[in-house]
Amino acid sequence: MGFSDKIESLVDAIERASAKNLEEAEQFRIKYLGSKGVFKDLFNEFKEVSSEEKRQFGQKLNQLKSRAEGRLTEWKSSLGEAEISGPQLDLTRPGMTVEPGAKHPISLIRDEIIEIFHAIGFSVAEGPEIEDDWHNFSALNFPPEHPARDMQDTFFIKDPNGGDDHVLRTHTSSVQVRTMENNEPPIRIIAPGRVFRNEAVSARSHCIFHQIEGLYIDEGVTFADMKQTLEYFAIAFFGKSKIRLRPSYFPFTEPSAEMDVYWGLENELDYRITKGTGWLEVMGCGMVDPAVLTSCGIDPEKYSGFAFGMGLERSAMQRFQIPDIRMIFENDVRFLKQFQSAL
Ligand code: PHE
Repeated sequence: MGFSDKIESLVDAIERASAKNLEEAEQFRIKYLGSKGVFKDLFNEFKEVSSEEKRQFGQKLNQLKSRAEGRLTEWKSSLGEAEISGPQLDLTRPGMTVEPGAKHPISLIRDEIIEIFHAIGFSVAEGPEIEDDWHNFSALNFPPEHPARDMQDTFFIKDPNGGDDHVLRTHTSSVQVRTMENNEPPIRIIAPGRVFRNEAVSARSHCIFHQIEGLYIDEGVTFADMKQTLEYFAIAFFGKSKIRLRPSYFPFTEPSAEMDVYWGLENELDYRITKGTGWLEVMGCGMVDPAVLTSCGIDPEKYSGFAFGMGLERSAMQRFQIPDIRMIFENDVRFLKQFQSAL
């Protein structure tokens, strides 16, 4: 068949072609316009024909190809619409249900504690999770080589360019430094956030957890103010009004204490929660060390204050009876769903 006959028969074939559905349209595309299709062959052949024939057929060939493409586009749009607006559209079908999300147990506890302190004038402060040595340690009175730096099982981040190394913050106390550096007293903040310690993961401890830090700095703030504030918290959060302060040690507070809440020993659960003592350990606290105030640019002759810090996981586990801390971080929907009612 000569070149001109081929073109004539192709004109016919393209005009006669039809597609009943998208699949047939696709077959048409492959047959005529595909990379091994009829047009490909024809254009290859076209390269070889005499220049006279080129003049004669060139334009025709191009028009024919556009015609084939045009038909294909028409089929696709009309068939595509038909498939969508066809019998599948059933206006009586019930809508899709959208399940409301649930707050994570850690968020529930965090928000509750924020609310409790908000009511007595504390506002929320935040800081970065990747900290420099100054904010996580030095400004908080941890001297270089102090064993307390190891005590906190720090994750160090090496700077490949030889700059200062950083750490994943080991506590939210870094936020108290940042707040004091950038604000004038009176300061009343709580700093909730994620912290990191290089500890073996088990049912009771994790290398990631959450803390809330509190800080109050003003003229004439005393240990009695701290005790009163913590007692207010114990009543609001645990519904328990008996607390005790045991002497403790933190580099950044002096004196330092651990606060326990008297839980009672009425049933087996109380025994388990308090390890048989009736007392629940709640948080570390103390009067901000004058050296820390000085490091942060606050005059310790004029101002004093207290700080406290507590873990959120332990409270969440006790409140919601979560037996294993790892559940808090696994994001298993079956676990998370259970807190829906707590919304
Ligand atoms: N930063 C301490 C810790 O991580 C807790 C703390 C905060 C203690 C503030 C005293 C004052 O254990």
